[in-house]
Amino acid sequence: SDVQRLAGVRVLLTAGPTREPLDPVRYLGNRSSGRMGYALAGALADLGAHVVLVSGPSALAPPAVAELVRVETALEMHAAVTARARDCDVFVATAAVADYRPAEPAGSKIKKGAETLEIRLVRNPDILAEVAALPKPPFTLGFAAETNDVEQYARGKLKDKRLDMIAANRVGGDSGGFEREENALLVLWNGGQRTLPMMSKVELARELAVLLAERYAEHHAA
Ligand code: C5P
Repeated sequence: SDVQRLAGVRVLLTAGPTREPLDPVRYLGNRSSGRMGYALAGALADLGAHVVLVSGPSALAPPAVAELVRVETALEMHAAVTARARDCDVFVATAAVADYRPAEPAGSKIKKGAETLEIRLVRNPDILAEVAALPKPPFTLGFAAETNDVEQYARGKLKDKRLDMIAANRVGGDSGGFEREENALLVLWNGGQRTLPMMSKVELARELAVLLAERYAEHHAA
């Protein structure tokens, strides 16, 4: 039975988008709803895991988890994860973290004037890659949303970020992903892979949680 197969396992999970301030009233954001992450956090808690959910802004009702940490920016998410990463067994990164943030957010509302306005952006830290590079990293599951060459890019990320598992999906056009109820995933790990066909994100999260529990158990036993 699947019941409580993650009992006693401490999971840290990021979800949702981040917002990168341009000025006190505006931000750069993305279309992530947090749906997949919230569903996965709930599914992992259902398997008995102690789940700490670090969430960017989402309109959804959060799942029942041990702790919910609300953040807005990538830097806040980074700080929340860094403070907790050494105390988890599994780290799951579902968040759509902004790769860049405005270099110098304006202290007051930017006024319209000139025909063009340039905003300089600087790189945000890669939260997942940092956690995976810890001296004693937790078991890591990352996500890869790609418009094309899904498997190739996902394999690259699994290797480059030194992840234990990656769940990849196609986004854009009529495929699942952002702003959709349904999704399909190609899950890769060193030595195996599994295709989870198009289904609701809630069902998909349950299947992915079970697959994660299997891989974690194997990794742990090794
Ligand atoms: O390289 P890419 O951004 O496509 O990798 C996506 C994966 O990395 C996701 O699991 C995402 O949550 C994570 N990520 C992160 N911090 C970033 C960028 C991505 O944790 N700054």
